[in-house]
Amino acid sequence: MNIISTITLSKTIHKDINASIIPVLLTKLKTKTLFEYVSRFIPIPKHYNTLLNTIEENMKENNLGMANLTIEYNNTNNNNSNSIINNTKNTKKSKQTKSKQTKSKHTKSKHTKSKHTKSKHTKQINTIHQLFIIPINNLSYNKKDDSELLELARVSGNAMFNRLKNNKIVKVNIIDTLDTISNETTYIEAIMEGLLLSSYRFLSYKTENSLTKKKDKFEIKKIHLVLPSYKRDIHKDSIIDKLQKLLNQIKSVFLTRDLINEPANATKINLFITTVKNYIKENNIPIKLKVLDKDDLEKLKMGLILGVGKASLKENEPKIMILEYDSVDSKNKKNTKDKKNSPEYVLLGKGITFDTGGTNLKRGRSLIEMKTDMSGAAVVASFLLGYAMNKGSKNIYAMCPLVENNIGSGAIKPSDVLTSYSGKTVEITNTDAEGRLILADVLYYVSTAYPKSTIIDFATLTGQQEQLSCKMFSNILSSNSESEVKTLIEKGKHINEALVELPMMDKHLSKLKSYVADIRNASFSCSADIIMSSLFMKQFINKNTKWIHIDIAGQSYKTDDIIKYASPEASGVGVRLLFAYFE
Ligand code: BES
Ligand code: ZN
Ligand code: ZN
Repeated sequence: MNIISTITLSKTIHKDINASIIPVLLTKLKTKTLFEYVSRFIPIPKHYNTLLNTIEENMKENNLGMANLTIEYNNTNNNNSNSIINNTKNTKKSKQTKSKQTKSKHTKSKHTKSKHTKSKHTKQINTIHQLFIIPINNLSYNKKDDSELLELARVSGNAMFNRLKNNKIVKVNIIDTLDTISNETTYIEAIMEGLLLSSYRFLSYKTENSLTKKKDKFEIKKIHLVLPSYKRDIHKDSIIDKLQKLLNQIKSVFLTRDLINEPANATKINLFITTVKNYIKENNIPIKLKVLDKDDLEKLKMGLILGVGKASLKENEPKIMILEYDSVDSKNKKNTKDKKNSPEYVLLGKGITFDTGGTNLKRGRSLIEMKTDMSGAAVVASFLLGYAMNKGSKNIYAMCPLVENNIGSGAIKPSDVLTSYSGKTVEITNTDAEGRLILADVLYYVSTAYPKSTIIDFATLTGQQEQLSCKMFSNILSSNSESEVKTLIEKGKHINEALVELPMMDKHLSKLKSYVADIRNASFSCSADIIMSSLFMKQFINKNTKWIHIDIAGQSYKTDDIIKYASPEASGVGVRLLFAYFE
């Protein structure tokens, strides 16, 4: 889906847009009244002074979350510079303004529609301006660690989106009152990020008959960014570049959500690959896409991937999608016959397009969620596409084993023994522990093909991760990667995708001993699933491989009460983390 049709910027508000978001730094209100502060950007009739004073008091004393004020202009002298004119059919009644104030709760602002008699000669004009004032507590502003403030900005962006939607406002000014130099737009970008991330919809299967038709239709058409110290010649390119990068990141989150929300109909594997192919083409992305099909996997003897995919229909046979991104810099190096081009990072993503549990069949309502068991694959693929669009400087590859874990006569059973790509044999104790199996084969592939690369995998690997975290965080475990883990945790905090580290202790390995094979895929005597699954996978890398595993089972789906702008179903958690990590 298109994120937004237009973003424009200038020093002043757009005269045709009659809604504005204005963040107010509370310290500034020591030297100026709120009325003066706001009037700098939006003409406000004098009689609003008292009302704005009340809001100001409330903001200072009661820690008011956000205020919504409807400014109405006098129609009779609408030619003066104070009027903001918009040619729309609905004329709102000109009477004393109501202000709606809420404390983190968001109420609609109500307007009474006037019965209007149209005169042939006078143009109907709407002279209302909706003001959304977001107070910012100076205590958190300009601190070194600004993660709390930035999250507040994103949440405000989400609240704004809900209000715009409720009021059917499709165009809005966002006024950057904070930064003195206009290319430091961090806070305003965070508001935009929260707002735009909240605007995601999944409409591929909706028709005119949809029960949610009215709601689905709403979309933000235009954001006008007001940068008071904007100087076209100096700032235009750098700001547009920054905004474009932000939009590409959000686009990647949307692509992830699209891929995850897609139903698990019998061609989800091919659909995944086609969607990525089309995205590369449409956006002209310098990425090589390769696909290993079932024949290739058989030749390579990737027995674990093939085993998990054994009960799938022909049109949904297992595949591995590989994306290769070599940055422009490295291509130049290559030309000068520098060292062999090897990716600094290889990202892996669990791509189970539906997890029935296999012969160890899952049951209950949560089964429907198992279409999201390819979230890891969606995250790493979408990230890499956006990273390449933003001309990232590192060489990064991504590998996504795409497999359906189905039931049926061909399906693997507990007690089956599979031979992995590494040659190790695996006794299947539980067919529902399939994620670690498919990742084990690609881990071995990467750690031998690119022994110097750092591997990061994302996977909805264990139900335990969801229960343990209550969707509050993801878990991170690693081998030879302390500093990378530290950075990932920091970045996660900064963008509100929390990561909690768990130990990968070799002591646990004895719990995976098998009588008949080299190792078993799940333990009967140890219920530390998050740790055990990692430890299983660790057996398929080299001693020195740098590897980080992130279990996103909890946050990948239905996490919008924790991350407000995460959208109701697929969240896309992981994508923004990767952007933050690689920035
Ligand atoms: N895909 C599931 C994990 C999952 C559960 C993800 C809930 C998202 C939400 C995974 O393949 C699985 O079933 N794991 C088993 C492992 C067990 C059999 C050792 C689990 O967690 O129950
Ligand atoms: Zn499973
Ligand atoms: Zn699974």
